[in-house]
Amino acid sequence: MTNKLVKACVMGWPAKHSLSPFIHHHWITRYDLRGAYDIREIAPEDLRDSVRKLVDEGYAGFNVTIPHKQAIMDLCDEIDEAAQKIGAVNTVRISAGGKLYGMNTDSFGFAENLRCAGVSENVKGAPVLVLGAGGAARGIVHALLGLGAGTVKTANRTMEKAQGIARTFPVMPVAWERREEEAEGAALLVNTTALGMDGQEPLLFDLRFLPKEAVVCDIVYRPLVTPLLKQAQDKGLKTVTGIGMLLHQARPAFREWFGILPDVDEELEREIIKRAGGSL
Ligand code: ATR
Repeated sequence: MTNKLVKACVMGWPAKHSLSPFIHHHWITRYDLRGAYDIREIAPEDLRDSVRKLVDEGYAGFNVTIPHKQAIMDLCDEIDEAAQKIGAVNTVRISAGGKLYGMNTDSFGFAENLRCAGVSENVKGAPVLVLGAGGAARGIVHALLGLGAGTVKTANRTMEKAQGIARTFPVMPVAWERREEEAEGAALLVNTTALGMDGQEPLLFDLRFLPKEAVVCDIVYRPLVTPLLKQAQDKGLKTVTGIGMLLHQARPAFREWFGILPDVDEELEREIIKRAGGSL
C-alpha cells in the first residue's frame, strides 16, 4: 500500500447526524491506514457539482444517503446488477480515471446482520413477511432471495409500491390491513418502514399470529429496541436490531476505497450503539 491519503465521504441532506464517519475512522485507525471520511450536506440540486468536486479533489469514493440514492444513479458510469435491480445506489467508487462505479451495500448489510445473529439459515426455504416497500425494502428483498428465502410477502400501506417490487422480484404483495394475519407461519418478520423510530408514529402490529420460533427484525436502530422488538422479546421470540445492518453495509464500501474488508468488532458495535443512543 502506498502512503497516499485515501479520502471518502457521505453525501446526504440532512447528513450531519450520520454515524458513518465514526465507523470508517474506526477502521482507518484499526488497520493503520492514511484515510479521511467526512460529511457533506448536499442539497439535491447541488448533487452533480458536488460529485464533480469529489472527482477533482481525488476522492476514492463516497456514500450517498437520503435523498440521493436514486438521483446518483444518473451520474454513475456503471452500476452493478444488484443495485440496478434494487433501484438505488448507496456507495460509489471513483476510478483513477474519474469514472463512477455505483453499487448497493444495504443488501449485504442486511444479510450479514442476520448471519452474525445466527439466524440466516432460518429463512432458507421459509416464508418471510416484509413490512414496507421503499428503497430499504427493495434491498432487503434482494438479500432475502439471495439467502434462499421461500415465499416473501410484502405488506405496504400503498399497495402499488408493493406491486412495484413484485415487478422486479418474485414476491407476493399482501394488503397492509391484513399484515398481522399474513405473518402466520412466517420464519422472519422484518420492519423496513420508519414506523417505531424516535419521533415517528409507532408501528401497530400484534405478533400473535407469528410462530414461537419466528425471528423479528427491525431496521430502525433509534431506539435500539423498538416497540416491535420489545413486544417480540416479551413473547420470547428471537430479535435482531437494526444496528448491525448499519455496521455491515459499511464494510464493502470501505473495501472499495481502502482495499480491506473490515470486521465489525465488539468495540465498534458498542461505540455505535452508544452514539445511536442505545445500550447493550
Ligand atoms: P426507505 O428508503 O427508508 O425505505 P422510503 O422509500 O421513503 O424510505 O419508504 C418508506 C416506507 O415506510 C414506505 O414503505 C412507506 O409506505 P408508503 O409506500 O405507503 O409511503 C412506509 N411508511 C412511512 N410512513 C408510514 C405510515 N405512517 N404507515 C405505514 N407505512 C409508512
